[in-house]
Amino acid sequence: MTYIASSARYDTMQYNRCGKSGLLLPAVSLGLWHNFGSNADMDNMKAMCFRAFDLGITHFDLANNYGPEYGSAEYNCGRILHGELAGYRDELIVSTKAGYDMWPGPYGDWGSRKYLIASIDQSLKRMGLEYVDIFYHHRMDPKTPLEETMGALDSIVKSGKALYVGISNYDGPTMARAVEILEDLKCPFVINQNRYSIFDRTIELNGLKKTARRLRKGIIAFSPLAQGLLTDRYLNGIPADSRIGSDGRFLQADALTQVRLEQIRKLNEMAAGRGQTLAQMALSWILKDEDVTSVLIGASRPEQIEQNVSFIHQAKFTENELAEIDRISLMDRE
Ligand SMILES: NC(=O)c1ccc[n+]([C@@H]2O[C@H](COP(=O)([O-])OP(=O)(O)OC[C@H]3O[C@@H](n4cnc5c(N)ncnc54)[C@H](OP(=O)(O)O)[C@@H]3O)[C@@H](O)[C@H]2O)c1
Repeated sequence: MTYIASSARYDTMQYNRCGKSGLLLPAVSLGLWHNFGSNADMDNMKAMCFRAFDLGITHFDLANNYGPEYGSAEYNCGRILHGELAGYRDELIVSTKAGYDMWPGPYGDWGSRKYLIASIDQSLKRMGLEYVDIFYHHRMDPKTPLEETMGALDSIVKSGKALYVGISNYDGPTMARAVEILEDLKCPFVINQNRYSIFDRTIELNGLKKTARRLRKGIIAFSPLAQGLLTDRYLNGIPADSRIGSDGRFLQADALTQVRLEQIRKLNEMAAGRGQTLAQMALSWILKDEDVTSVLIGASRPEQIEQNVSFIHQAKFTENELAEIDRISLMDRE
């Protein structure tokens, strides 16, 4: 496959500042958690990366264990970065993470210095890169001192293996402690990566969203479409080629309860009334205030990426619409 990036790639995307840092991220970023493993089709992976880049998506997000098998998404991304995208490294933000189980034994999981430093070396090798732009600690580790984990992130930056650091799946109070430690170390911590969608309001409840605003740190919202539930994918059953139909590791059929389907239908109607698809409305909703820097979408085909970037200039909601979305999103608690 030959590829020359579109000369219009910066014409329509919006770039948002990550907190008070110098780093700008596209309003929509692409995650390689699904559909980039060793069981995925390389031509489709390339088509998705190229379409994304042509639309101004300058940020690709990975983790050490994205696959299956673990490491294979980094390996495949590396092939693309060194293939057709080789001339564009300085136009791209590549991130990876460590914090979940990666290799057997006590040193391939959680938040020790031993794990994080070995893991970034492995990730760089798989991708064939000298550095990543953002390196994340992937989840809070209640048993390792936060000073040790943050110290490891700092060492990774100081050794030139990452430009910025982030933390993922942290809550507000723990993030505030992390910020204190990282500021003492003068380590460029710029972003929180957390799950956030119309269906998952955890960061509004655990202090993360408020603390990020107060400390002027970025937020990148992962699974903004609730892994595909906040789209028209499941309105008429479970398609064989959908995440539920073809994967089933992280999203299973039991997520589609009667109440969930009812919520999806109501939201879908509302989106149609706004002249949007449900996916577009779900992404607009996340970016409605300025707390979230970027929505981190996944995709199984390039057309989804195209559809998902075209909400950006229609991100406003009326008070009534916001109240109705809240009401629908709470139906499963009634
Ligand atoms: N830090 C963490 O702990 C963490 C955890 C999870 C994810 N992440 C990051 O977040 C990224 C995104 O997560 P996600 O894949 O769950 O995000 P998502 O955007 O909520 O879901 C993506 C899935 O929704 C479906 N979809 C997307 N656009 C669609 C459209 N326009 N119409 C119909 N269906 C559409 C596709 O599934 P089908 O296969 O059904 O087509 C796609 O694979 C990951 O790749 C990863 O980088 C981070």
